[in-house]
Amino acid sequence: MPMERILSEVISLAEQAGNMMLDDSGITVENKATKENYVTSMDVKIEGFLRENLTSLIPGSFFLGEEGDPVSEGEKEYMWIVDPIDGTANFARGIRMSVVSIGLAHFGELVLGVVRHPHLGETYSAVKGNGAFLNGEPIHVSDRTKEHCMVSLAWSTYNKKLAPMCFEVSQRLYGVCEDLRRIGTAAYELCQVAKGSEDMLFEIRLAPWDYAGAAVILREAGGVISSVDGDVSLTHSCTVMAANTAGNHEFLSSVVKDVLENFRVTE
Ligand code: IPD
Ligand code: CA
Repeated sequence: MPMERILSEVISLAEQAGNMMLDDSGITVENKATKENYVTSMDVKIEGFLRENLTSLIPGSFFLGEEGDPVSEGEKEYMWIVDPIDGTANFARGIRMSVVSIGLAHFGELVLGVVRHPHLGETYSAVKGNGAFLNGEPIHVSDRTKEHCMVSLAWSTYNKKLAPMCFEVSQRLYGVCEDLRRIGTAAYELCQVAKGSEDMLFEIRLAPWDYAGAAVILREAGGVISSVDGDVSLTHSCTVMAANTAGNHEFLSSVVKDVLENFRVTE
């Protein structure tokens, strides 16, 4: 099936999954490994829906979802990387700022991404080589210089031993850039960089389902995303640095690498 056909099917599935999220009555909320990390009955329900439908769309495709079993390293022809609800803490608290995120990799390379924000009615989408779109309209990153950048950050919510290092990065960026933001859904934050509303993002040890779909969208919108030692991982958490321009990515990367070294934190 041509990638553009797959894209329209995936957009439809992401929109159906997003509609499920709109009815948050009767959901149950549980903690995962730490008190800060939630899973709701809706995460599980949406992941089941997407697992079934996405693997039927490409028979034989592999599915990696936030709420499923961990995956071992290995090259798959087609691999879905899915976050049923990115922004689960927002969702569980009734803060209407959560998205469905779907990425597709082909032999280890991200080729398709869809991020659906059901409360705002926004669908971000991209296929590698064909540009990035918001509700069908082309989007592009900003050309702001670092002094005018708005930067999305997080402070290692699930492992607070790493928080001082993240605060140091925040402080250095705050001294140079315009302002900082913490929306609480990395996938949506990356889409804000893609559409030129925000300009950079840094988060230590982010999981692949948080950025896989949005990474394709950001790259197709002209932005840059990487980890510290190269490309972002599709199977393991990694430190994510994203920016509107190569110059700002280089600046962000130099700040992050310097702070990681000073705090003796390895990836
Ligand atoms: C979280 C969000 C948040 C980021 C966390 C993620 P979840 O995903 O993307 O913005 O800071 O690291 O775990 O748990 O809401 O799916
Ligand atoms: Ca997530």
